[in-house]
Amino acid sequence: MSETLFLKPGLPKAARYAELHPQLNALTADEADCTANLANTAAVLRQAFGFFWVGFYIVKNEELVLGPFQGPIACTRIRKGRGVCGTSWAEARTILVPDVEAFPGHIACSSDSKSEIVVPILKNGRVVAVLDVDSDRLAEFDEADQAGLEQLMQLAGAWF
Ligand code: SME
Repeated sequence: MSETLFLKPGLPKAARYAELHPQLNALTADEADCTANLANTAAVLRQAFGFFWVGFYIVKNEELVLGPFQGPIACTRIRKGRGVCGTSWAEARTILVPDVEAFPGHIACSSDSKSEIVVPILKNGRVVAVLDVDSDRLAEFDEADQAGLEQLMQLAGAWF
């Protein structure tokens, strides 16, 4: 598999996610190591969208523990039901946060983070990890990001 990402210039978001899906699938299909696949996924998303922070928190011993990411250093452990990530885990659903200051219990790893989306990764119906994406702009994420990221994360359940 080629390690080059092909990104057509000027695509709208939904088309950008659609062009990434087969490339991420090809990049990860023959690799059995979960960490390697999560690390490349964070890099793919950062390269394609220039996200401020993008990475994974992995369910370990009833906590979320920081996994592969791209961006500034981040908090390492999050309890179930805490913050946006812990809420996404507890409720097994995507959470879109247009303004992090308005989300009760938001965990601020960086004061530059202004909006956020968290997408759970499911394996056999259970949340095994979450994808967290932060922006330094308000209301960065919308339904197109939700749909695109949820589709990409359907690939990820098989890595666990
Ligand atoms: N803001 C997240 C914590 C993780 S950092 O944003 C990387 C939350 O509230 O769960």
